[in-house]
Amino acid sequence: MIAPSHRTLETPLDYAALPREELVERIRRRKAERNAVILGHNYQRVEIQEVSDFLGDSLELSQEAAATPAEVIVFCGVRFMAETAKVLSPRKTVLMPDLRAGCPMADMVDAPGLRRLKARYPDAVVVAYVNSSAEVKAEADICCTSANAVRVVESVPPDRPILFVPDRNLARYVRERTGRTNIIAWDGYCHVHDDMVLEELERARREHPGALVVIHPEARKDLLERADVVTSTSGMVRLAQEHEALIIGTERGLVDRLRQQFPHKTLIPLSGAAVCGNMKLNTLAKLAWSLDHLRYEVVLEEEIRARAEASLKKMLELSGGWGRPSGAPALAGAPGGPRGCGCA
Ligand code: 13P
Ligand code: SF4
Repeated sequence: MIAPSHRTLETPLDYAALPREELVERIRRRKAERNAVILGHNYQRVEIQEVSDFLGDSLELSQEAAATPAEVIVFCGVRFMAETAKVLSPRKTVLMPDLRAGCPMADMVDAPGLRRLKARYPDAVVVAYVNSSAEVKAEADICCTSANAVRVVESVPPDRPILFVPDRNLARYVRERTGRTNIIAWDGYCHVHDDMVLEELERARREHPGALVVIHPEARKDLLERADVVTSTSGMVRLAQEHEALIIGTERGLVDRLRQQFPHKTLIPLSGAAVCGNMKLNTLAKLAWSLDHLRYEVVLEEEIRARAEASLKKMLELSGGWGRPSGAPALAGAPGGPRGCGCA
């Protein structure tokens, strides 16, 4: 048992001065007191993953947020993910440890811009990648994630044009997978994935010729064409459990964590430079502060929330519902450890 600190702890900086074990102990204690749950995205720092109750990709996290009986959700991810949790769990308190943790791709489309595009294509169905604000989701007909984008697009009647926002790379991938020619893509992109280049992939392949190449669909077309598997972050986690050697084309924090979990496997980041600084804004100190002070609370206008909920629920209906994600094993040997992708 760690002795509680007697220092006045007002700001995240005060917490940053505490030893790691004390932060972890405070987080565990406060979580129980507040009936809180910590949801962590697969790109979080390893120390955040270690104290998360649930780890997953955007789809799994949204399902868990909708299903959890906890009263407080602390979301360790980026803003659109915390907003999604609030949309699906309006009566719960949803907290973000750092308000600056946004997603630059989500910020590339806003509701007025999308309304202007809708006015030009009045017959179109709007598919919003979950990496978008609640206001944009409120303007959409249905949402999708990297895990279900193909299925969502296939659910749209073939004669209806689709406005796909904001990721042009995911839109192109879905267009190729479905053979649909009537997808109009917003010109947004994720800089972390869009900056990965063919040269890096070719070098990794030369150095590890037997490795399976798995790439996130936010990457560019020339990379996706050379991938053995295109999948979401949790899809990559499952492949790492099954295979001995992978070249992984996504945010490199995921690769670092998988290497820690499977030290004897060959797990190679496609690009060493692929780091999402926004995801890394969450730290143990900010998480402890967030739970103690119940900040920063995500608040949404009810009218926006309700419309965004309709688009998200349509997606969830096509993706196993909004109950707990199935097939989410507890960590072996870690009772009470994170559920979800089974990592960390
Ligand atoms: P996943 O839904 O695959 O976890 O992706 C989220 C994301 O932001 C990828 O950059
Ligand atoms: Fe957004 Fe890219 Fe970061 Fe994912 S990795 S949160 S898409 S900036």
